[in-house]
Amino acid sequence: MLRGGRAAPSSGGPLLDNTEIDVTGQGLPAPELPPPARVGDPLDRVDTPCLVLDLDAFDHNLRIMQDWADRWNVHLRPHAKAHKCPEVALRQAAIGARGICVQKVSEALPFVAAGVRDIHISNEVVGASKVELLASLARQARLSVCVDHADNVADLSRAAARQGSRIDVVVELDVGQARCGVSSPIAALELARRIESLPGLRFAGLQAYHGSLQHRRGHAERAAASREAAVRARECAHVLARHDYHCAIITGSGTGTAEFDAPGGIYTELQPGSYAFMDGDYGDNEWAGELRFRNSLFLLSTVMSVPCADRVVLDAGLKSTTIECGLPRLHERPGLSYVAANDEHGIVRVAAGAAAPALGAKVLLVPSHCDPTFNLHDTLVAVRAGVVEGLWPIAARGLSR
Ligand SMILES: Cc1ncc(COP(=O)(O)O)c(C=O)c1O
Repeated sequence: MLRGGRAAPSSGGPLLDNTEIDVTGQGLPAPELPPPARVGDPLDRVDTPCLVLDLDAFDHNLRIMQDWADRWNVHLRPHAKAHKCPEVALRQAAIGARGICVQKVSEALPFVAAGVRDIHISNEVVGASKVELLASLARQARLSVCVDHADNVADLSRAAARQGSRIDVVVELDVGQARCGVSSPIAALELARRIESLPGLRFAGLQAYHGSLQHRRGHAERAAASREAAVRARECAHVLARHDYHCAIITGSGTGTAEFDAPGGIYTELQPGSYAFMDGDYGDNEWAGELRFRNSLFLLSTVMSVPCADRVVLDAGLKSTTIECGLPRLHERPGLSYVAANDEHGIVRVAAGAAAPALGAKVLLVPSHCDPTFNLHDTLVAVRAGVVEGLWPIAARGLSR
């Protein structure tokens, strides 16, 4: 007998007498998963594993980066790939951010739906369906996108013509990262000419982002390397200007170099993302200047097993946090170290003499890399002084097309 009392098909269908699985796909209604928390709950009552945002630290981070940009008269265009959460972008905009960056066209969709009308896709968009989507989105929001190839420029122009939209196009210059981008000012000039010659497009300037510099650990070393990258951007902009191509925008920078890029006088806008949250990897940088960010992002986890005196097991493993930048760290728990991540288990070593958390206790982890960790969660639980203040959908989670 099938679950639900229906008879198994008499012939031709699977025989299910010994199973409790309804292969007809008409199972019983399952209870809905409750939200991980409700507004007003204490942190202790939040269901786990769950991403938690400490609003005091978050507000601090937003404020000091915005003040820094204002002080040096550059625009702040925070990167939304870090969090994928429209509520975060709206709060950044409320205190002065000019718009957002996204990395993918699909990632922009929930932000446009939430009211963000100025979006820079800090990446090349290649492929017919993506280009078409971009061009149609450009009817609803001011959209800019990076290019590093003439064929892509032509595709963008044709799509803009079909959609009746206009796309701002930014030439990506490789300033040392060896990822995307043209590698010389002459190549940038050729692309600028191509962009200006085609309908539906406008040459908007340069992107000069250098990702690996963000994590150079030493403060002085990071400062020197970011100056070098910025000088390459300036030289390219000068070549373009000599041929009457004015860079209205020179965009780039990140959490690790905004401190040097804002006062440098070359970038017109900054694209940091992680600064709002911080993570273990950024925590390992030397922060010797004025910009000091606080950890606002935590992964709340429950002790699900206490098998022996020197080991406890958490309910947060690889499906709750990524580990390409190292393992997560326990927040304010001396003597406890997260030593291994299994799919759904986090193994924690308890040092001799340290206080082991009890079964069912909640602990806070600092993820090592915020961007891909956000991408594993549906909801960000915003907490102030230990009390839940809001549940923010991570609406662009999984949108990587
Ligand atoms: C093009 C671009 N801009 C900005 C950022 C933001 O960097 P961060 O989150 O380190 O501030 C990134 C991150 O990888 C990026 O790829």
